[in-house]
Amino acid sequence: MKMQKTENVKRQKKEGIKSFQEYVNYTQSVFLKTVGLDLLEDRRQGVNVWDLGTGKSYIDCFCSAGSFNVGRRNPRIVGALEKALDQWDMGEHLFPSAPKAALAEKLAAISPPGLKNVLFCGGGGEAIDSAIKLARGVTGRKKVISLVKAYHGHTGFALSAIGKAVYRDPFEPLMPGFSHEFPVNDLDAIAAAANEDTAAIILELVQGEGGIFVAEQGFIEGLRRLCDDKGIMLIFDEVQTGFGRTGKMFCCEHYSVYPDLIVLAKSLGGALYPISAVIYSGQIRAFMEENPDLIESTSGGSDLGCIVACETIDFLLENDIPKHAATVGDYIGEGLLNLAVKHKGLVKEVRRKGLMIGLEYKHDMMGPLMSYYLGTNGVLAIFSANNPKVMRFMPPIVITREEADKLLAAVDRSLASVRRSSRIIAGAVKLPLIGKILSVQEMQVFLILVAKTIAKIIPNKGVSQAI
Ligand SMILES: Cc1ncc(COP(=O)(O)O)c(C=O)c1O
Repeated sequence: MKMQKTENVKRQKKEGIKSFQEYVNYTQSVFLKTVGLDLLEDRRQGVNVWDLGTGKSYIDCFCSAGSFNVGRRNPRIVGALEKALDQWDMGEHLFPSAPKAALAEKLAAISPPGLKNVLFCGGGGEAIDSAIKLARGVTGRKKVISLVKAYHGHTGFALSAIGKAVYRDPFEPLMPGFSHEFPVNDLDAIAAAANEDTAAIILELVQGEGGIFVAEQGFIEGLRRLCDDKGIMLIFDEVQTGFGRTGKMFCCEHYSVYPDLIVLAKSLGGALYPISAVIYSGQIRAFMEENPDLIESTSGGSDLGCIVACETIDFLLENDIPKHAATVGDYIGEGLLNLAVKHKGLVKEVRRKGLMIGLEYKHDMMGPLMSYYLGTNGVLAIFSANNPKVMRFMPPIVITREEADKLLAAVDRSLASVRRSSRIIAGAVKLPLIGKILSVQEMQVFLILVAKTIAKIIPNKGVSQAI
């Protein structure tokens, strides 16, 4: 009977993955299999997700790039949605409703000073598009400045602002007026480019997909001054950094510098219901009032989504979860630094703000390799899309000390395995030409297969569990 059940589950997984490959994304599925993450998501709870076929649990350190701050299937938020289903649906987007009003008021109350007006959207990209439209609309200007390696989503204006050409090139011509050649913290370069035709400067305070690069205080202060001087709208993309991730409700609170528009998405939906928002200043409100139907979204601010978002914010505030994120972030950050010392030569740097953590390896190929080993050690972690040598650790910010210890032990074991299996190629990586070849994704896939074989042949000796 038990064997029959196991067989059924295995078949279900095989069929699920086959359908995904056939109808959704073949290449992505094959790549995930290569890096040992061919999961069919099954149960999810707190910081964990279970694979259907194997029953194995993983600490989720990817969290859909920071969407699950409150943990997966947080009972309080699940309860609120269940209750809401007795009374509400998505609502007419034209009319006000009690859930929309309650969320707008709550967002205005927690948002940075000066930001009190709310525009609801469905996803992050749509909200970025709307923020850029508002900035262009209110200023009547065309130019938008964004940063190298920036990630703002795959919709029209958002894609035009992305700082990585491979995402943009296939869809050229994109929106005119966008320039994205400015490195994080290079205020002079931006100041030289910004002029009376610049509508907006948009940035993430900590670049997520770019590889966890934290903006400096002076840079952000300088941008605010520049925008004030030249009448430019400053947009903070807090899609990943928002809702406690960096140790404050919003990352800009660390800087005490506030934008004209802030874009929120991902964790606003409590890991249950997609919803996003742009919160903007009184100056922009005037433009919206004159043009009430220029920016609209049918599914933005659905009533069910608003109820989930309200409960999410209450949960974060009542339990002081942003502070918890700061404390556990310090703990994990320290642990990773110790591991970098212990596994000398593998880790270049640990960068972080709260629980937005990036571990930069010495070479691109280590990103996929570490995803594989962390997977075998029960941790789901993905390297940065725009920077494969940076592993992102963004677990739910409700993660406990005990769970953090498990995570660090898994990183310890994985770094030891990487050293063992990459020894053969470690020397080659240092040679410029071969190092370049090894940065190509297909080559990395091949190397992971080699590494897996080596790992099977050579036993994992001398890996200490102590951190
Ligand atoms: C910083 C940032 N901005 C915008 C987006 C786009 O959000 P969405 O995928 O919901 O469109 C993302 C998505 O990962 C993001 O990380």
